[in-house]
This record gives sequence, structure tokens and C-alpha cells, in this order.
Amino acid sequence: MMQRDDATLRQMAAARPDMSTWLSANAGSGKTRVLTDRVARLLLDGVDPQHILCLTYTKAAASEMQNRLFLRLGAWAMLEKDALTAALTELGVAGPLSDTALRDARRLFARAIEAPGGLKIQTIHSFCASLLRRFPLEAGVSPQFVEMEDRTAKLLRAEIVEQIAAGPDATKLYALARHHTGETLDDLTAEIAGKAPLFDETWTQAGMAKALGLRPDATHRSLESDVFHGHETQLLTKLVTALSVGSTTDMKAAAKLKRINALDFNSLPILEDAFLTKSGKAPFTVSTRFPTKATRAALGDTIDLIDAWMHRVEAARPQRIALEALHVSTALHEFAQVFLPAYARAKQLRGWLDFDDLILRARALLTRSDVAAWVLFRLDGGIDHILVDEAQDTSPVQWQVIDRLAQEFTSGLGARQDVQRTIFVVGDKKQSIYSFQGADPREFDRMQRDFAERLEAAGTPLQTQRLEHSFRSSRPFSMLWMPHLRGARSRGFHLNRATYPSGPPCPAASICGR
Ligand SMILES: Nc1ncnc2c1ncn2[C@@H]1O[C@H](COP(=O)(O)OP(=O)(O)O)[C@@H](O)[C@H]1O
Ligand SMILES: [Mg+2]
Repeated sequence: MMQRDDATLRQMAAARPDMSTWLSANAGSGKTRVLTDRVARLLLDGVDPQHILCLTYTKAAASEMQNRLFLRLGAWAMLEKDALTAALTELGVAGPLSDTALRDARRLFARAIEAPGGLKIQTIHSFCASLLRRFPLEAGVSPQFVEMEDRTAKLLRAEIVEQIAAGPDATKLYALARHHTGETLDDLTAEIAGKAPLFDETWTQAGMAKALGLRPDATHRSLESDVFHGHETQLLTKLVTALSVGSTTDMKAAAKLKRINALDFNSLPILEDAFLTKSGKAPFTVSTRFPTKATRAALGDTIDLIDAWMHRVEAARPQRIALEALHVSTALHEFAQVFLPAYARAKQLRGWLDFDDLILRARALLTRSDVAAWVLFRLDGGIDHILVDEAQDTSPVQWQVIDRLAQEFTSGLGARQDVQRTIFVVGDKKQSIYSFQGADPREFDRMQRDFAERLEAAGTPLQTQRLEHSFRSSRPFSMLWMPHLRGARSRGFHLNRATYPSGPPCPAASICGR
């Protein structure tokens, strides 16, 4: 386990403002602290606040960053010489510090909030919104557009679903609903809206069937005739009877098989569930151990017919799944073709942009090379330092926005030459909680490799760092101990290591598991 002091030194190295850094670290290891340290050091080095952009995914994380930075800069404004020198040295600023340097440090808070454009600490969404607001013409959005809150978007999506249900395309809605197991369609329509660009791509049922490895002639009917040769109703009755008086495993299988109403396509998943293995070396295959030995013996010659039937169920399974996937996919695409244009029209009529629109429009704006460089320059004279917190929650499209913002960093081109530019990214893949909103933790590694290559080529290599020590982990313990210790002290008891070599017994042992 890494020691606290080592951990702090690593943090200092990661906060070095002159190197692009990729930091992956566990919760509580000080990622946000390093990020704010780094911003403070950039400011100390004379970088103008408007050239710094801090991005994250949630509003809460953005305010956390802002609060911590402003608390720190605010505290410096009040510190006497010695205390301020100590604070700056702790941050990794090399001494000695002149009076002018100290005076500048005390003024950072004012500089950060007074600078035109100010220091940007934002969610990716709100940054994109501000970009679109400043360049509506170039972005092709109404200058008065309104950002939709999640709730508004949800209501509008529900309204569109209602309209579809009452219109000529209702069957497409019902076809999709048949495959959807959620309580409401909202999680599904939200995901469709979030992945709208994917539905623009040409999709054909034939192409999908091929991608799924489905035989061209496979249908419900053809799979039924592959599996059922006519005598299976009798086989099923005999099998269930024998299993019902067999071992526990056999009886469980009997219970499953009894759920079958008719031997048709819909019974295949139940048969697979009863007949095939679920795990092990060869999952979803027939096992020699089912039915158990005694039951097999009881079935006499019939067992050969049952074995053959079970193998037919096994053989049909991949095609059965592919066929179902094709049906689901078809239902999804046909619904999306109706839903997405209606949703887009409804938003356009009202001048609304949802969260996905903000990101997609900003990406489009920054992708047009004729406009992008100009936009970036007009953005308070350019962004030179990009810092991303909670980067594991960044979706691929959002990465593309960040990537475009950083294009000057790696191309060496820029409206202003000889300016140092850095990128700083921190995240913890294990903590990704937004995958349902399109975040892809693997993207974190991909982007790291991509930036590393490009920065290397540009002669400004990326340093990669890990932080392992958690500054938070010991805290819940000590908090649980505190009432106990306070009570102990008041009784004249003093904690010492000899009494409790590994700390006092935790009074909340049942909670913290000690
Ligand atoms: N070097 C350090 N020394 C003391 N406390 C620290 C240090 N680094 C972080 N902390 C504290 O640990 C807690 C977690 O830090 P934070 O930056 O929020 O971590 P993360 O963003 O990785 O979850 C905070 O309360 C922070 O003040
Ligand atoms: Mg954090």
C-alpha cells in the first residue's frame, strides 16, 4: 500500500502544469484535488484564467471543482507571508518566493473571477451550450434556443409516443413495445434519442440478418420444423412424468417444462433452459448428466429419442437467438424512423435543444475546419489548458468535442504560436456510472493512447500517472470511532498503540466488518 507522503508527492508531480498528464486513480485518491492544484499552479505561472477550461460531467462535480478552487484562492488572498509561502511550497511551487510573487498569488482569486470570460469550470453540456450561444449562426441554431432539462425532454418524448400511438404508425410502436420489458418506454426513447446519429446510417433487414449470421431461409416456421418432428408432445409427457419423481435437479427441470403451453417457437427458450447447460466449459450444450442416471434408466428406449431432441434444441439455439435479435432490431429501427424525425421537429418548432443536441451541434461546429480555428480563437482568445475531471463518464461524442478543442495542441497550429498548451485528464474507470447515458469507460483508455501518440508526435509527451492511496478510506472508520473515543477519554482512558496495536476495536463492528 502506498504511503500518504508518497501519494502526496505523486499528486504534486501530476499537478505539474507544464506537462500534459493522464491520471487514472481510485476514488478518494485526490484526483479533484490534483486538478484544482493544477489550475492554481497554471494561474500562478501567469496563464490567463480565460485560457483555462475545466470540464466534467455532472453539475455537482463542476461546482465541487469550482468551490474547492475558489476556497483555496480565497484563502491565499488572506494569508501572511510565511503561511502563504508554506502553502505555495506545499503545492510544489519552487522557492524562493519574492514579495511580488506572493502579491500575485494573493490576487489570483480576484483575477480568476474578474477576467473577461472568466475561468471556465463547467459541465461539458453547459460548455457546449455557451459555445452555441456565442456562435449560433455558424452552428445553425436559433440564437434564442432554450436548453431542455431532462424532465422537459422526458415529457416531450412521452408526448411524441402518445402521438405515434394515435396515428398511422401505431403498429410500429406496438411492435417495439412487445419486445420491451421495462415499465415505461421512456428509458428506451431516451436511449434512441441519445443515439440518434446511429439511426441515420443506412440499415437494412438483410444486412442485419447477415451480420447476425442468420441463414437466409430461417424463419419461425423453419426453426420449428428443425426442432419438432411430430412426436415431441408424447416425449414431453413421458419426460416430465419421469423427471417429476427423479432427483431435485430433475424435478426442477420438470417444473420448467410444465410451463410450456404448446411446442412451437415460443417454447424454445424454455426447452433450452431445461435441456442445456448454462455455464462451464461448453455452455448451452446438452449435458450427459441430464436427466440423471436413474431417470434415464426409467425412460428406457425413449431416452434415445429425447437425447436426439435435446440436440436439435441445442443446434437451433444460435439461429433462434439471431432471429429474435433481427426482430427486435427491426422493430427498433422502424420505430426510430418514425420517432426521431417527430421528436426533432417538435424540438425545432419550440426552439429547444436537448443535452444530446448540445453536444452534437458543438461537435459539428468544431468539426468544420474552416470555422473551428476561428471559433476557438474567438473563444476568449483560445483555450490553452483543458482539464477533465471524472473523465470515465465522458461519452465517445463528448470525447470528440474535447478532442476538437485540443486539436491545436497536437497539430502545432494555432492562432498564437509559442503558447504552451496542456491537457489534463483524470478518471476512475471503476466508477463509471453513466454507461446508460452513453459513457464508455473503454473510451478512457482509447483516448489516452490516442492523445499519447499525438502529443508524442508534437514533441510534448503525455505523462501518465496513477494514484492509489485513498485519503478518504480511513475517514469513515475514524468517524465511527469518535464517539467511542470521546467517551473513553472522558473516563480518563488514553488511547495508545501498546493498548491497541491495530487501533481500538470498532464499536460499529457490525457496520464496518471488523
Ligand atoms: N495529499 C492529500 N493530503 C491530505 N488530504 C488529501 C490529499 N489529497 C486528497 N485529500 C483529501 O481526500 C479527499 C478526497 O480527495 P478528492 O480530490 O476529492 O479525491 P477524488 O477526486 O480522487 O475522489 C478530499 O477530502 C481531499 O481533501
Ligand atoms: Mg473527484
